[in-house]
Amino acid sequence: MIDKKRISEAVASIISSYKLPERPDGLYRPIEYALDCGGKRLRPSLLLASCMAVGGKIEEAESAALGIEMFHNFTLLHDDVMDRADMRRGRPTVHVKWNDVTAILSGDAMLTLAGSLITEVPDCVLRKVLAMFNRTAMEVYEGQQYDMDFEHRNDVSVDEYMAMIRLKTSVLLGCACAIGATTGGAGDKDVDAFYSYGENLGLAFQLRDDWLDTYGDAEVFGKAIGGDIVNRKKTWLLISALRERTEELSGILSEDLEDGELIRQVKEVYDSLHLSERCDVLINSYAEKAVSALDKVAMPDSDRKYFTELALSLSQRDK
Ligand code: IPE
Ligand code: IPE
Ligand code: MG
Ligand code: MG
Ligand code: MG
Repeated sequence: MIDKKRISEAVASIISSYKLPERPDGLYRPIEYALDCGGKRLRPSLLLASCMAVGGKIEEAESAALGIEMFHNFTLLHDDVMDRADMRRGRPTVHVKWNDVTAILSGDAMLTLAGSLITEVPDCVLRKVLAMFNRTAMEVYEGQQYDMDFEHRNDVSVDEYMAMIRLKTSVLLGCACAIGATTGGAGDKDVDAFYSYGENLGLAFQLRDDWLDTYGDAEVFGKAIGGDIVNRKKTWLLISALRERTEELSGILSEDLEDGELIRQVKEVYDSLHLSERCDVLINSYAEKAVSALDKVAMPDSDRKYFTELALSLSQRDK
């Protein structure tokens, strides 16, 4: 049975008690900085909750939970270089506080540390868990490549976008749930259901992230607003606007406008098409899909409530 308090305490404790070597400073301090400065810690929470929901022992899943959070933070170090992003969690990103080389190398180290932590699951599930993790990591890189490729295209379809965010974001949430359930002793059918929960939750999560990048409050969100527009990221918002106002929007995007003015003009088109509200409907539909993926899994009502409330709160999150 899920114990919410135990999950958040376990996540905080595995992160704070994880010790890195002293030297070289330039390699390890940025890793501490990334892990220390908060974040929602969604993926390790999902992993431990899934383990608990199937009746597993969370001590057996704790290293994997840290591994998944380490991997997530590795992707962020590199992602912020790729996206030219200066702020994260209300603080300068690693490549700004240090430099690009540091973000790359500390990120590489985090990937290796993540792999080692994942292998600390019980032997009986090790091969399965490692295969899942490695497949997921490759999918994330594929998603990140599509994300970059799409910056240079104005004809990206919604289907292509959904496939891209599934790869760059959803599969890691799915993997966290599936590793948790597997480590907790669940059979294949239940593991697949947990994966599907995380996968659909991830779609809602990335859609909301993209929404927040335009409509969020920088102070709360912790990231600069409008970066996706400046980078010509093909979000659901931009794709929909490009489809419905092709000439007007291609014109705006090809002009050499100052960032603030570009963001203002693009947002004006979004607003005239009511894209904020329409995006919200889509987000909710994926959150609902996530919840129904668990319909056939037997679990106490209070555990089901945990997953339902999580999906709901993430669809409406402000940070
Ligand atoms: C950021 O993930 C990257 C995306 C997939 C949108 P989170 O929003 O989970 O980042 P933190 O860890 O809470 O800062
Ligand atoms: C993040 O997508 C996906 C990965 C880091 C793999 P974003 O680029 O939208 O994430 P943020 O907004 O920088 O957190
Ligand atoms: Mg990115
Ligand atoms: Mg980014
Ligand atoms: Mg984003």
